[in-house]
Amino acid sequence: CFGIVLLCLIVLAKSKTSNSKQQNVRSFPDGFLFGTATASYQVEGGWNEDGKTENIWDHRTHLNPSPIKDQSTGDIAADSYHLYKRDVEMMRELGLDFYRFSLSWTRILPTGFPDKINEAGVEYYNNLINEMLKYNIEPVVTLYHWDLPQKFQELGGWTNPFIIDWYTDFARVVFETFGDRVKYWITINEPREICYQGYGAASLAPGYNYSGVADYMCAKHLLLAHAKTYHMYDQKYRPKYGGNIFITLSAMWYEPANENEIEAASDANQFQWALYAHPIFSRVGDYPPVIKEKIAAKSAEQGFTRSRLPEFTPEEVEYIQGTSDFFGLNHYSTYYVVRNESVKGMYEVPSFFDDMDVIIYQLPDWKIGESNFTMYVPWGFYNLLTQIREDYDNPVVFITENGFATRGGLDDDDRVTYYKYYLNAMLDAIDDGSNIIAYTAWSIMDNFEWSLGYTERFGLYEVDYNSPERTRTPRKSAFLYKEILRTRTLDL
Ligand code: NOJ
Repeated sequence: CFGIVLLCLIVLAKSKTSNSKQQNVRSFPDGFLFGTATASYQVEGGWNEDGKTENIWDHRTHLNPSPIKDQSTGDIAADSYHLYKRDVEMMRELGLDFYRFSLSWTRILPTGFPDKINEAGVEYYNNLINEMLKYNIEPVVTLYHWDLPQKFQELGGWTNPFIIDWYTDFARVVFETFGDRVKYWITINEPREICYQGYGAASLAPGYNYSGVADYMCAKHLLLAHAKTYHMYDQKYRPKYGGNIFITLSAMWYEPANENEIEAASDANQFQWALYAHPIFSRVGDYPPVIKEKIAAKSAEQGFTRSRLPEFTPEEVEYIQGTSDFFGLNHYSTYYVVRNESVKGMYEVPSFFDDMDVIIYQLPDWKIGESNFTMYVPWGFYNLLTQIREDYDNPVVFITENGFATRGGLDDDDRVTYYKYYLNAMLDAIDDGSNIIAYTAWSIMDNFEWSLGYTERFGLYEVDYNSPERTRTPRKSAFLYKEILRTRTLDL
């Protein structure tokens, strides 16, 4: 009788540990890739060196008065233009499979056009790529991470349809120059931020304040520029080099505040990220129908003769559809959603959702640490990954950014907690069948956080901006990430 009880206990214990969700140590799938990311303007510095010309972030940060929280610039930033060898050393210390960085358009093409290629700029990226490859670190290269040539901005930037050709011409030079060694290309980083924050809310360069019009013009041209470059790579360079090319979208998760707000939350998700995902990843293409209807109805109410959201022709719908090998995903945080009701939340952003009639907010107890920037809501990440799987036939997801801001310091326990539980949420989604192949921590080191300057820090490594050498020192989170990558497990 005692023997049977013992056997039962052993069987019970075994069945518990075989359920991965209850285990404290969880494994990542075989072949899963880990990396970190940066962007040119945020880390490089060398803003006017060796032939590089002005881009929209040089221009914006040099305005007087400065629109940047601490009046800082990216003139030197983390000085990666000179310190790329140290950067690669950090990649090796962490044991990265890949490193995601972006190219400065005006460092490579000083006029913005391909009439003149700046050899010094090309050499910088060649050195970086070759140094990484020496240590088997795969380059994942973003062509456009927000630093448009200033000359093109003076012609309207992303509101000018000619940008489709300007961008594709730049991409052609890039593929010709680096295509033999780069196997992962990201066309454009975060269309929503480029268009809404750049052309609608004036919070990012170029700082237009024409929400509901200029941001929608930008969206159309951006999607077409992306598609044109995808097709070019697919037809001309993929047969030669066999690489991958995809777009990276920023997606928050919008959760209904209660059961009456399911439609409101769905509208928020459709509007914030499906606006860009639906044309590329859905079976039917084009903007989400609910968004087209709502904006058309609002525009008519306001006396416009046509929708403020410019339409795609049927040919354009087809041209854009299916133009991404992976669903590149940047995710940071979650919001609750209500319709037409004032909420005393920590952070309300009503204006962005004007066309959707929704209000979003976050809860004070989601906050860990000093920063208001990213909230700790791992279940939101899980819900988002589930939604992407369900809405777009389980696409291959490449997580291109996820991370947590602090005000600095090496003991970044909050960031450690954030990474552990967001990775745990990602593993839950993988267990449910999500096809996620890679995860990228933002960022390998502190860098210029756009309108917030250097006031928010995202680095696994701290950068000492007071030292001329821009000394980089690993934080606790760097040791955590290194251990996760070494063991390919997550120990909660
Ligand atoms: C989004 C952007 O791609 C990146 O440039 C930025 O620094 C991080 N997320 C954090 O805000």
